[in-house]
Amino acid sequence: MDNFSKVLSGKAVADTVLEYVKSTTDRLVRQGIKPGLAVVIVGEDPASQVYVRSKGKKAEECGFLSIKHELAEQTSESQLLSLIASLNEDSTVHGILVQLPLPKHINADKVVQSISPDKDVDGFHYVNVGKLGTGAVAQAFVPCTPAGSMVLIEKVLGPDLSGLDAVVIGRSNIVGKPMANLLLAANATVTIAHSKTKNLRSVCRRADIIVAAVGRPRMVKSDWIKPGALIIDVGINRIVSDPDVGSKSRLVGDVDFDDALNTVGTITPVPGGVGPMTIAMLMANTLKAACLANGLPQPAF
Ligand code: GUN
Repeated sequence: MDNFSKVLSGKAVADTVLEYVKSTTDRLVRQGIKPGLAVVIVGEDPASQVYVRSKGKKAEECGFLSIKHELAEQTSESQLLSLIASLNEDSTVHGILVQLPLPKHINADKVVQSISPDKDVDGFHYVNVGKLGTGAVAQAFVPCTPAGSMVLIEKVLGPDLSGLDAVVIGRSNIVGKPMANLLLAANATVTIAHSKTKNLRSVCRRADIIVAAVGRPRMVKSDWIKPGALIIDVGINRIVSDPDVGSKSRLVGDVDFDDALNTVGTITPVPGGVGPMTIAMLMANTLKAACLANGLPQPAF
């Protein structure tokens, strides 16, 4: 197989998800239901500002009501909790997302757990974590990055991963743990590797599927990869490519892409892989929340 056909464009798959969200939303709007997404950001973190802007823009493109609450860095925890309480009560809002990280004086977990589980489009509320963990995947809101990664895995391998070994590198609540639960629900044999894992290279070499979510630029090399494996690269690392020439920084994944191409069956690029899928799944989750809130069957992706 040539190298070009080994690259799985998340952008292309995300576009098909978004087309489906838009057409379903058009139909809902004609019935008088407009999905609403409220995004809350506290403080000035530049990366968070960029993410929040693109989430708001995408929500508008999907035909949603898109609400943004930008709060000052010194906002108190109780002010934030009362904003969320009012969004929980607001029937025009179907999805609530509080951008993380929050300033240090705010207890992020308390804030996230105050979001109604029915509006928790990030899938971080314990109710949704518990549903996913017990295999009730269809009833859960699933965190967007692992949900998007799973759509990409299904594109290549289909919905049943019976007999396949999957290694997830990273054990975060946002990506690693929910990713492992999704793979398990699809019948894969799952290993969660992390910073304390011994012989990570040999653990990875057994895998038919590797999901890399560690935040270490180009850590996974071709000799970590079983020939023909599927590699999902969740990492988004900004590196200065060549300081001597004064060149601009660029984004790379957790996988050494050029090296890995020699060995992989399929790999997602960075950028243009998991990133676009994450935002598409946020829109999909918001549409699902709007359908469920109105007693309609949830859309199938
Ligand atoms: N910050 C980084 N990733 C995420 C995410 O998926 N959701 C939220 N709310 N904040 C984030």
